[in-house]
Amino acid sequence: MRTSFYIKTFGCQMNERDSEIMAQLLIQHGYAAMAAEEADLIILNTCSIRAKAEQKFFSLLGSLRQEKRRRPGLRIVAAGCVAQQEGEHIFERMPHVDVVIGTQQFWRLPELLQRLERGESKREIACGLDKAFVIPPFQKLLHDAPPQPSEFRKFVTIMQGCDNYCAYCVVPSTRGREISRPVADILEEVQLLVSRGVKEITLLGQNVNSYGTTNPVAERPVSFAELLQRTAAIPGLRRLRFTTSNPQDLSTELMRCFRDLPNLCPHFHLPVQAGSNAVLKRMNRKYSRELYLDKVAELRSFRPDITLSTDVIVGFPGETEDDFEQTMSLLETVRFHGSFSFKYSDRPGTRSLHFPDKVDEQTKGARLERFQARQDEISLERNREFLGRSVEVMVEGRSESGLQGRTGSNHIVHFAGPDSLQPGDLLMVTINHAGQHSLQGSMAD
Ligand code: SAH
Ligand code: SF4
Ligand code: F3S
Repeated sequence: MRTSFYIKTFGCQMNERDSEIMAQLLIQHGYAAMAAEEADLIILNTCSIRAKAEQKFFSLLGSLRQEKRRRPGLRIVAAGCVAQQEGEHIFERMPHVDVVIGTQQFWRLPELLQRLERGESKREIACGLDKAFVIPPFQKLLHDAPPQPSEFRKFVTIMQGCDNYCAYCVVPSTRGREISRPVADILEEVQLLVSRGVKEITLLGQNVNSYGTTNPVAERPVSFAELLQRTAAIPGLRRLRFTTSNPQDLSTELMRCFRDLPNLCPHFHLPVQAGSNAVLKRMNRKYSRELYLDKVAELRSFRPDITLSTDVIVGFPGETEDDFEQTMSLLETVRFHGSFSFKYSDRPGTRSLHFPDKVDEQTKGARLERFQARQDEISLERNREFLGRSVEVMVEGRSESGLQGRTGSNHIVHFAGPDSLQPGDLLMVTINHAGQHSLQGSMAD
């Protein structure tokens, strides 16, 4: 019987939460978490969003071939989005893999492992994707161990999959159709976590704004804004966040939550992807530059101090210099506090894979560099707006230079403070230094 495991997670927060569930399930089945070199079960929970993410997984998997020769008892599991996408092909390329398990099936990992242990099969695969899939309600029971002090914040998955079919994106094929989790399950899970000392919750989905509109499983559809209101009202929950939103479904009702719910953090990650209407259209994003800017203005009217971050893709097929300039000008107009920007990358099964006029690597690289350099300058300018202000900070832990915490606006803050401060504690900090990626301050009187 193999008893120790190690999980390496690639990709987004949804994958992180899935890895956490796999770990909890394995612990319930008698396994213990261990360092990679000692574990007799290695799970790679993979991401396929860009070609680089997939390459990282295959090169790590390749290097495990040697490891398995040295330790024939080692079992290797490929889970997550690349596993879903490649299925059986993973065994062909990487015969040392024992289990391939997809994004709707990872709950079954202990059962598949048991079959291998009993010698009922030599390898296992479970990659079914069902559009009537129901996120198992026992998810809430999996938070059964008391959280560690470091676990003052937790992710709660509220939906699976995505129906938007943006032209460049693998998620609809790797995660399946969009499915909302019943509101009662979500609230029960949050309540349970908060009662065990968790202070901050992030609700997770690829497209949270359309929560409840697809495959509603409640007695009546509940909008995302209503879900936020009901979650925010749970006594003891100090901070509430969510990710990710698609601008097309961003309702006024949701924006009002930023005015009305004191524990909803004033930070909004609102991926724009591109500033040119022609590119947005080809991307199959269902909003225009103008609509995006209107939403930003409306959001700021409800919560003037809200910080905004975004995702941008440069070099989408057919993107001209002029298109790219429009992305740059959108950055100047909104002045995002931060952004994640990527070179477009061809992905299997997506529509843009077959689009003409691919942009060459050099041009993509130059555009990305220009965008990021300007974003860095703006981030610094934005961070300087905090100088002299007192902000509420949640302690995250200790670093070499003292304590580290985070503002509701999602800024990292370094400050000095007494040893008695614990992760999850809230306090006021006056900001006296602003860098590009973090702030510094001292405890306010
Ligand atoms: N659901 C979110 C995005 C999830 S994927 C949304 O709708 O905005 C995270 C980010 O990866 C995307 O916002 C996009 O910027 C980037 N991305 C997705 N596919 C990509 C591709 N083929 N090439 C480059 N970047 C990509
Ligand atoms: Fe991908 Fe678009 Fe869905 Fe986001 S909304 S996950 S980018 S298809
Ligand atoms: Fe990656 Fe899958 Fe998340 S492709 S970004 S791990 S949904």
